[in-house]
Amino acid sequence: MCPTPDSNRYGFPPPPQGGASANFASWAFCGANVQKSNFYFILDLQLFKNLFFMKDSITVFAPATMGNVGVGFDVMGLCIDNPGDEVIITKNNTGKIVIKKITGDDGKLSLSPSKNTVSVAITALLKHLKLKQGFDIILNKKMPLGSGLGSSAASAVAGIFAANILLGKPIKSRKNLIPFAMEGERVACGTAHADNVAPCMLGGIVLIRKNNPLEIIELAVPKKLIVVMVHPHIELLTKDSRAVMPKEITVKTASKQWANTAALVAGLYKNDFKIIGNSIEDFVAEPYRSKLIPQFDIVKSIALKSGAIACSISGSGPSVFAFCTSKKRAKFIGNNMKLAFAKGSINSTVYVSNVNTKGVRVL
Ligand code: HSE
Repeated sequence: MCPTPDSNRYGFPPPPQGGASANFASWAFCGANVQKSNFYFILDLQLFKNLFFMKDSITVFAPATMGNVGVGFDVMGLCIDNPGDEVIITKNNTGKIVIKKITGDDGKLSLSPSKNTVSVAITALLKHLKLKQGFDIILNKKMPLGSGLGSSAASAVAGIFAANILLGKPIKSRKNLIPFAMEGERVACGTAHADNVAPCMLGGIVLIRKNNPLEIIELAVPKKLIVVMVHPHIELLTKDSRAVMPKEITVKTASKQWANTAALVAGLYKNDFKIIGNSIEDFVAEPYRSKLIPQFDIVKSIALKSGAIACSISGSGPSVFAFCTSKKRAKFIGNNMKLAFAKGSINSTVYVSNVNTKGVRVL
């Protein structure tokens, strides 16, 4: 029986029927309407090609992302060009997932497959497909941990994207891979939010309208929008940054916030930088989280005085982002934000980027 295109209530794409042995037949003939016609099959040519030219090893790059985009707490995310994570995945014959090596993490990440975001995401995919394929994983962390740049999401997305290719792309669309990457997020930060994994997988700016079942809307990306990302060299764990937030907010606060979130979406579609700038005023997270980021008020004020149209916390922090409309202006803003952190004896790294509309990619 062919898989149907519908998602189940958990947002996972439907599994192929009949376990591993039936997988190839099930997926290979999914182009044919076997229920309506017993006379012919239309072979899925793409899958046919994938099966016969399948690789055993692949290297993938997954870029950094900014959760929340200032006002869309847990529901909006944006992808940038760099930094990012590199993952090398190779099939093995042991049926086990082995993390061979992790670089760039100062020994902080676990090599245990049940604790690492890459392997947890891949395990969720294999379980869903009822497959026992083993993989060797090398994770080269090329972005800081606990930075508000979607580090754990990038690793999970890289792993799941690579494994799906090595398996012959049983999951056809990038969107349908996102729920598996979210399982990696759950292990890394305690919640399976999609506001980093979705933009990392799809690129661009996304809105997560609903988590169960997952519904993602890809938003308009103004071509001139430039992102300045400044990462102060301090670590702030997402769970700590979530812990300082109130459990409830008033209707008055909520209404200001949803007005701004709606205005931001409108600004993106109208390509109107005045609306975009005015709408990024966060009443839900920034008032609480900013206290965890030394120099935040000064850094924000300098960014706005230097010509940024908006400035707020990237994801759960401590990175701080600013928006502007030219690379030259972006470098100026970034340098001034860096100086403001330095006044508080905090080193930082500045990244300037367009919105990355491609997302994760094969190297
Ligand atoms: N939406 C999440 C948070 C993003 O703000 O906690 C984590 O990067």
